[in-house]
Amino acid sequence: MIQSENFELPEPISDLNVLVMGAGLMGHSIAGVFAGAGASVTVHDVDPRALEAVPEKLGKQLVTVGADPAAANRVRLAATLEAVAPGIHLVIEAVAEVLDVKQELFARLGTLLPHAVLATNTSVFKIGEVARHTSHPERVLGTHWWNPPHLIPLVEVVHGDSTNPAVADSVARLLGSVGKVPVHVRKDTPGFIGNRLQHGLRRCRSSKPEYATRRRSTSWSATALGCDCRSWDRWKMPTMWGWT
Ligand SMILES: NC(=O)c1ccc[n+]([C@@H]2O[C@H](COP(=O)([O-])OP(=O)(O)OC[C@H]3O[C@@H](n4cnc5c(N)ncnc54)[C@H](O)[C@@H]3O)[C@@H](O)[C@H]2O)c1
Repeated sequence: MIQSENFELPEPISDLNVLVMGAGLMGHSIAGVFAGAGASVTVHDVDPRALEAVPEKLGKQLVTVGADPAAANRVRLAATLEAVAPGIHLVIEAVAEVLDVKQELFARLGTLLPHAVLATNTSVFKIGEVARHTSHPERVLGTHWWNPPHLIPLVEVVHGDSTNPAVADSVARLLGSVGKVPVHVRKDTPGFIGNRLQHGLRRCRSSKPEYATRRRSTSWSATALGCDCRSWDRWKMPTMWGWT
């Protein structure tokens, strides 16, 4: 059980073993952040095609951020959870946003990796819900990254009701060391901070059209939130909100 006030993830980062669950849009990019910083990274996905695509995607990503693309070749790919080598310190879960799936995974991870910190990238579920069937909820927390993770600095570090604060602090320090800007969210409510601000801006836009009528306004709002217009454009949000 991790309840010590002095919990620390291994340092230097070359001693850190990270497992990223899910090789999709978020997962592969998060894996690249840690691989580029020198951590030992394993990526697991149930879809073999998603796994196969990881090295090429990571190579491109690492070039984009000015890191050594050779780090992509050091990322291990695991087709099953059982194939993941022991000694994982940190799991970042970025599988589909389905509560049952996440709960089952966190239950299995609690058994398979009894000493690892388990972080979910959920955007909507309470951390306590994701951790409901896990044996050690004190080492479960949220790390809510923004798309694309290798470019957007903000990561919300979300404390569940049972999360050991020392674990959350340690994860936040790690995120800072890989170039991210961690923000602690100490209340476990769906939507966290960034999504709530976005929705607040949306309401503001609806009621006060003069606040944001041009694309430049979209840029300003997105930048202020640590977000990025490109991902918003991808979601067609500016169009939905009448900001184009
Ligand atoms: N897309 C975004 O902009 C964004 C932003 C912040 C947070 N998130 C969150 O990140 C998570 C992942 O989102 P995404 O956009 O990368 O999804 P995605 O669909 O691109 O990727 C999900 C991957 O998980 C894999 N997967 C599904 N079930 C699995 C399981 N049981 N074990 C292992 N792998 C499994 C799928 O094969 C797929 O490759 C979600 O919780 C989502 O809400 C997404």
